[in-house]
Amino acid sequence: MGSKNKLRRFKENETFANVVQPSREEVLDDSLKLKGNWRKDFFKNENPLVLELGCGKGEYSVNLAKAHPEVNFLGIDIKGARFWRGAKIALEENLKNVGFLRTQIELVDNIFEENEVDEIWITFPDPQIKYKRTKHRLTNEDFLQKYKKILKPDGVVHLKTDSEFMHGYTLGLLHGLDEEIEYAHHDVYGSQGAPDAVTNIQTFYERQYLEIGKKITYIRFKFR
Ligand SMILES: C[S@@+](CC[C@H](N)C(=O)[O-])C[C@H]1O[C@@H](n2cnc3c(N)ncnc32)[C@H](O)[C@@H]1O
Repeated sequence: MGSKNKLRRFKENETFANVVQPSREEVLDDSLKLKGNWRKDFFKNENPLVLELGCGKGEYSVNLAKAHPEVNFLGIDIKGARFWRGAKIALEENLKNVGFLRTQIELVDNIFEENEVDEIWITFPDPQIKYKRTKHRLTNEDFLQKYKKILKPDGVVHLKTDSEFMHGYTLGLLHGLDEEIEYAHHDVYGSQGAPDAVTNIQTFYERQYLEIGKKITYIRFKFR
């Protein structure tokens, strides 16, 4: 995407009522008024709250929102020019139960109160295979601790990825930590099918991986 197009999207995001772009300072000094109040003040209801981390264009947030009008969905990504697409679709289709937040996922525990979140989807995260990049891997132990803190006690995490490495790494880590793996599949479009939410929605990255014949994997887990 050209830089002109990106700038246009950044500008438009600022005018979108379904987009929140807090400053890093606001988040770090704990002055974000939405913390603890996402349902009431952003979605204007008391329905469950589901996050999509690294949402890209927001396919999961938008399509789950369409399928579940009684649930609130919030897509999170640092790249505003990407989620502009999901935000635009949500506005055009008048979907009131989906929003987008531009921030670093590292800051989730400054943005959401303990027990504020019902579910988390992590869709096609960069696997960050190199040792030096481990700290950016969205299912490393530090991230898991943060997710556990903001999730309700029974809260569920969904990880959908094309990366066998990420799938295996996360399964191993969860076993080691004795967390509850509810479901794991190494080829969701293969035999024995996977739950509808896993196969009915395809993301931008997913479609590219499917075209080159990669298997898509999925894990659903809970913290004890
Ligand atoms: C490989 S893309 C997948 C996008 C989308 N979920 C899909 O499947 O098409 C990973 C996304 O995660 C975002 N991302 C990665 N690390 C992040 C972080 N620490 N904070 C916020 N966004 C992050 C990137 O900006 C990118 O849009």
